[in-house]
Amino acid sequence: MYTIRIYGDPVLRVKGMKVPVEKIPEIKDIAEEMFRAMYAYEGIGLAAQQVGITEQIVVIDTHEEGSSPMVIINPDILAYSEEESSYEEGCLSFPDIRADIRRPVAIKLSYYDIHGNEHTEEFDGLLARVLQHEIDHINGTLFIDRMSPVSRMLLKKKLNKLKESHGDTP
Ligand code: NI
Repeated sequence: MYTIRIYGDPVLRVKGMKVPVEKIPEIKDIAEEMFRAMYAYEGIGLAAQQVGITEQIVVIDTHEEGSSPMVIINPDILAYSEEESSYEEGCLSFPDIRADIRRPVAIKLSYYDIHGNEHTEEFDGLLARVLQHEIDHINGTLFIDRMSPVSRMLLKKKLNKLKESHGDTP
């Protein structure tokens, strides 16, 4: 099974390449393994960088009523709502670190599904938040970049500790 890359691992800062549309069917195994890793670590979203793959692939399962697991490939956020909200986020690449992050409450997104079909859809609520967090990952952006200066200052010691112990992950 894939291991989760932890803060300090340089792969988390690499922008993912787009998956060529004709190659989307070939990433089914990767997506399946990403789901396995995400469920094993009890996450609700996982980006390819977090398992060391620098391609634009995200898996999500919020477990909300009526929701189903999603594979999001080559996502592009086309629009953000003006309204923002604050919510306590965690990240599998930052064990034991949580912080309130402000983000727009809704987005308009274009993406490809695992069958290679293109979609343009609007999302809000928890799904919109998880999508924004994971799409940040595939662009090399981490939730610490979105924290308030105060949160980051308060977490500095913990963050440095993580970075020092995981910076050399192969
Ligand atoms: Ni994350």
